[in-house]
Amino acid sequence: MVDRYKPIILVTGCSSGVGLALAHLLYQLPQYRTVVTARRLSLARLRTAFQENDHFKIMDLDLLDEKSRARCMSEIMTHWGAVDILVNNAGISYRSVVEHMESEDEQHQMETNYFGPMALIRNVLPMMREKGRGKIINVSSVSGMLAMPTMASYSASKHALEGASEALWYEVKPFGINISLIQPGFIHSQSFEKVYYSEKSEKVLDNPNLPYSDYYHSMTPFIERLMKMSWTTPEHVAKKIIQTIQLENPPLWIPATPDAILFYFMRRLIPRRWLMPFLFLFLPNSSQWAMRHTFRRDSVGLQNRKKKAS
Ligand SMILES: NC(=O)c1ccc[n+]([C@@H]2O[C@H](COP(=O)([O-])OP(=O)(O)OC[C@H]3O[C@@H](n4cnc5c(N)ncnc54)[C@H](OP(=O)(O)O)[C@@H]3O)[C@@H](O)[C@H]2O)c1
Repeated sequence: MVDRYKPIILVTGCSSGVGLALAHLLYQLPQYRTVVTARRLSLARLRTAFQENDHFKIMDLDLLDEKSRARCMSEIMTHWGAVDILVNNAGISYRSVVEHMESEDEQHQMETNYFGPMALIRNVLPMMREKGRGKIINVSSVSGMLAMPTMASYSASKHALEGASEALWYEVKPFGINISLIQPGFIHSQSFEKVYYSEKSEKVLDNPNLPYSDYYHSMTPFIERLMKMSWTTPEHVAKKIIQTIQLENPPLWIPATPDAILFYFMRRLIPRRWLMPFLFLFLPNSSQWAMRHTFRRDSVGLQNRKKKAS
């Protein structure tokens, strides 16, 4: 009997959004052996949606917990003996300006979107190397190409993921391992309801007289609006991931939505010193930002200061 290769796929963050959509697609594809994962509190959602079978398993995985990562890997080894394709999809997003982030917030953001995925990559690489094949698919974002105000930490985490993936491309290609970055732009989903605000930013949100309040009050509804207007659903991005899984030699960068394709080319073709002031103009009310809190944007205040200084 011919032993047919049935790649083993591990996907993180399957309780909602792109991860859940991908789980639904993989459930219909018995040519793969799939492990979908979620944190313990979200597992029930997966267990209600899917029945485990010989090509589909549900496991508990909290990216922030080393023991949980080790337990998940060891369970997969017991069942199927390897991971051939890793999809690092789980992610969170803080919506806070740099001045309002505490070290713990930065840690939380980076651990979920960068350290956790990197730890999983380190777990699976030795077996992929030994087999001489494998795929690592990291779900990044347009924020991994361009940063936006109030999203510094999220952008930093995705830039970190992109930088490490670029280095990995060189490191693992000779071993027959592919690495790809799926870069979605705005997705029509509820994930804006799940964004994190640091404690300081929450205080500012409640008090319009504090500095940066105008940034939040412009950026938050703006991003929500763009997400609601987007034609791209989590299913579209999930299909892009399936295509990447099925490609023999997928590219490193895969812009996954029409706006991501636009930003991808803008980022490459327009020098940053022009691109950033241009984008700044398009951010809602940006001409008014900080007006009440700095003399630099208030011509009267600036003149008064100059008079005082002379
Ligand atoms: N939505 C967008 O517009 C958009 C745009 C660009 C890129 N992306 C990226 O696409 C990916 C999926 O986003 P999405 O919109 O589908 O987000 P989502 O609906 O918020 O789903 C995120 C998933 O990550 C999981 N997660 C969070 N912290 C975790 C942890 N410590 N350990 C394990 N799992 C954890 C969540 O599980 P719980 O249920 O346990 O919280 C959830 O299943 C993310 O990497 C995101 O950055 C999204």
